[in-house]
Amino acid sequence: MAGFNNIELITDRPLIDNLKEIEEVKKYFPDHAVIASLMVETREQWIQIIKDVENAGADGIELNFGCPHGMCERGMGSAVGQEPAVLKTIVEWVMDAAKIPVITKLTPNISDIREPGLAAVQGGTDALSLINTIKSIVGIDLDSYAPYPIVDGKGTNGGYCGPAVKPIALHMLRELAQHEKITKTPISGIGGIETWRDVVEFILLGASSVQVCTAVMHYGFGIVREMEAGLIQFMNEKGYDTIYDFVGKALPNVVEWKNLNLKHKVVANIDADKCIGCQLCYIACDDGAHQAIKITEGNRIPEIIDENCVGCNLCSLVCPVEECITMEKRDDGTQHLTWAERTEADTIPTDFNDDRAGGKGHFVPTVQDALKHRKG
Ligand SMILES: Cc1cc2nc3c(=O)[nH]c(=O)nc-3n(C[C@H](O)[C@H](O)[C@H](O)COP(=O)(O)O)c2cc1C
Ligand code: SF4
Ligand code: SF4
Repeated sequence: MAGFNNIELITDRPLIDNLKEIEEVKKYFPDHAVIASLMVETREQWIQIIKDVENAGADGIELNFGCPHGMCERGMGSAVGQEPAVLKTIVEWVMDAAKIPVITKLTPNISDIREPGLAAVQGGTDALSLINTIKSIVGIDLDSYAPYPIVDGKGTNGGYCGPAVKPIALHMLRELAQHEKITKTPISGIGGIETWRDVVEFILLGASSVQVCTAVMHYGFGIVREMEAGLIQFMNEKGYDTIYDFVGKALPNVVEWKNLNLKHKVVANIDADKCIGCQLCYIACDDGAHQAIKITEGNRIPEIIDENCVGCNLCSLVCPVEECITMEKRDDGTQHLTWAERTEADTIPTDFNDDRAGGKGHFVPTVQDALKHRKG
């Protein structure tokens, strides 16, 4: 399952039941932290519910400014997360009232996550967490023409979660973790975490804790044990004593495009012994990339045309055989030139015909060659 969509709203249970459960959980697991996730409307309601969960024994509070369905229509959830000024005001109310640490949970349904992130920090939040679910429609039923999940012939947008949202979560995490005014604020990473590798990746990009929702719904709480075991093994292998030894270690390697080395060159290589001759790589490269794979008559095993290959990696992604297509480094590592450096040196191309663009002489098949596989 790549992901799923939910249209669930906040709890429909009486508050007293939830408070009783917070109290019970703390009683049975006193060494574990309980964080209460809250979403209410007015300042008075915030003050009251904070008092209630503190009295019940919660160790922290998470403010849900992320729910993208239903609650936002009532001015809560992502409606707050999408309005940095409103978010900041509510965080200030909460910080005034709360005696326990406060995490502000952000919505990904915004074009620049740094704006609400910064607003929460300016409002005084102790920590940030992200992402909540992504506003989505997962499909349309082809008989009733209604979106899933269908509720009496109609549907609505839901919130998308699970492994499919992980890349978006990682990107947003990185945006916050690299922000000069946010770096000191702890971030709890959420979104598509399913394995210990996911956990490590979130930590490497700046999260000092992680949260899991969909994977627990899918596999049960037991999955957390596996994550813990994998995480501990990774830490032992790398010689880390605590999470904080590697929080954000990948961040210096995440740069803007203009700072990538243009002299880095890789070319695809096919291991003929592993190849099963399915030719998926040929079709992908011919139709969707750079026509850098050739097939000779009587031989099902394709060959790379080195001079056409731009190292885009598409063929290795579509190849069904592990390690059959690998990307080989062809530069000797001695040269380094970035777009930023070229801009500084005033050597960037100024129009499409500029020799400095480097695309001149790029392989273009003749019309006869391009059409030769066409049937009819
Ligand atoms: C059924 C369901 C209900 C959710 N309810 C809440 C909620 O009440 N408050 C909240 O902050 N996030 C809620 N979320 C969002 C999750 O906490 C989490 O941010 C999101 O699903 C991404 O993480 P995941 O890929 O691990 O699920 C809910 C998610 C699902 C799938
Ligand atoms: S996709 Fe992989 S297995 Fe299939 S032909 Fe290409 S190299 Fe061989
Ligand atoms: S890396 Fe890209 S250009 Fe090179 S052979 Fe593979 S698909 Fe074609």
